[in-house]
Amino acid sequence: MKLETKNLLTVDEISDKEFLELIDHSIKLKEENKMVKGKPLLENKTLAMLFEKPSTRTRVSFETGMLQLGGHTVNLSLNEMQHSRGESVEDTAKTLSGYVDAIVARVYEHSFIEDLAKHATVPVINGLSNSYHPCQTLADFMTIKEHKKKFKDLKIAWIGDGNNVCNSLIFGCSKTQTEITIATPKGFEPNSDVVKKSSEYTSVDLTNDPEFAVKDADIVMTDTFTSIHTSDPKQNEKFLPTFQVNDSLMEKAKNDAIFMHCLPAKREQEVTSSVIDGPQSVVWDEAENRLHSQKALLLSLLGI
Ligand code: CP
Ligand code: NVA
Repeated sequence: MKLETKNLLTVDEISDKEFLELIDHSIKLKEENKMVKGKPLLENKTLAMLFEKPSTRTRVSFETGMLQLGGHTVNLSLNEMQHSRGESVEDTAKTLSGYVDAIVARVYEHSFIEDLAKHATVPVINGLSNSYHPCQTLADFMTIKEHKKKFKDLKIAWIGDGNNVCNSLIFGCSKTQTEITIATPKGFEPNSDVVKKSSEYTSVDLTNDPEFAVKDADIVMTDTFTSIHTSDPKQNEKFLPTFQVNDSLMEKAKNDAIFMHCLPAKREQEVTSSVIDGPQSVVWDEAENRLHSQKALLLSLLGI
């Protein structure tokens, strides 16, 4: 399958059909990996990995995924590149395009990755910006499909910060008609344009009450209260104790609800250890699925 879009900067760029096909392909690749049937489909292909922020999962899953598909990666830290001494994004994008077959970038400003994509002649993947995290959404919906076998008639409760992961998740809900209720403190709501656009396709409700959000929820999700780009060191205080996902909150969701978190988690802050290590948690599947879903993404962007 070849995606219509050259890049993946936000989930919104791909069609509903492409999104669903990517999820199914990700599940197939996971099965193949278990049977050790990986094919070197990206032999002689190189992925540039450009990081302006720390990462564990994104970096290792892209690198391992490329290796499993027979390709290579080049690891780049933005502050060690000539960009840090004033070379433009445009010139950086054009230069990298002459060497590599695709670029994944984790950056602060979303406009940076838009610029990179505009001037690169090879596909550019957003590995997280302050505004969006589309690769996380692919892995999240793959994980939901594995555990719930469907998307329609499911309800997600997002508890905490309406951040980059949440914005992309809402787009994912609109692609799959999954319902979502987002509970945030006032002032921490997700991007209003994302909510407005997605509300045309599925039910997107905003509330300040976590207990209301988890009622009848099939999936309870949260993320750190202090994203990498958060400037307020005391931001946690605006969320605690009301927005912590703990046993008492999980009890108010459906009995068979699963708990998800993109990780890294700050234990006893946004989630208690009892929940993240408990029987309803699927966070390790979710983390592993970054590998499989990004392999599917790389193949579909490169038309293989
Ligand atoms: N979930 C996620 O993107 O993790 P990393 O920050 O470790 O890449
Ligand atoms: N919202 C978090 C996600 C980390 C994977 C952040 O931006 O730091």
